[in-house]
Amino acid sequence: MIREMMDEDLPVILGMEKELFPENPWPEDQYHYELHENPFAQVFILEKDGRTAGYADLWILYDQAQIANIGVSKEFQRQGCGQELLQHCIREAVRLNCENITLEVRIDNTPAITLYEKNDFINAAVRRNYYEDGTDAYLMIKPLGGLEYDDNTGN
Ligand SMILES: CC(C)(COP(=O)(O)OP(=O)(O)OC[C@H]1O[C@@H](n2cnc3c(N)ncnc32)[C@H](O)[C@@H]1OP(=O)(O)O)[C@@H](O)C(=O)NCCC(=O)NCCS
Repeated sequence: MIREMMDEDLPVILGMEKELFPENPWPEDQYHYELHENPFAQVFILEKDGRTAGYADLWILYDQAQIANIGVSKEFQRQGCGQELLQHCIREAVRLNCENITLEVRIDNTPAITLYEKNDFINAAVRRNYYEDGTDAYLMIKPLGGLEYDDNTGN
């Protein structure tokens, strides 16, 4: 089940941030901003058997969508959760008439890049020294023109 993130989720999410991004986890105030102040943000949780398996932060910037963050707890990885969260973001972007959806990913993050390529994201550019440790990022984009959202099924 995918649902909106709430303040009560933050202890678990902050733990997952440290697990998944040990070098630069998002701090609590960043999540407060995303949940309460950022007018463009939609922040989701994926639950499996009542437990938090993963999360995603999607920005809807008028006709552009951007995945600001996405992660799946190590315990739940390679079970389709990342795919489910990504599909949810894409569906939301289509539903809200975005023309494309983008994200930045470390160039050495093979699991994430493989997931995005599998979902027809293409590598648009390299952002040099994008991360604090100097690692470059790929800017990846998926055009959404022609994709349709079905009001009845949500697909
Ligand atoms: C990237 C991430 C979200 C993928 O989540 P996941 O739940 O493991 O992904 P899924 O099980 O849905 O995998 C879907 C597809 O992605 C690709 N993939 C996922 N993990 C992979 C890995 N370790 N190596 C290669 N391909 C991988 C595969 O194509 C996979 O399909 P398959 O299982 O049929 O081969 C997860 O590894 C993660 O949270 N990583 C740490 C945080 C992170 O890097 N976030 C992205 C920041 S841009």
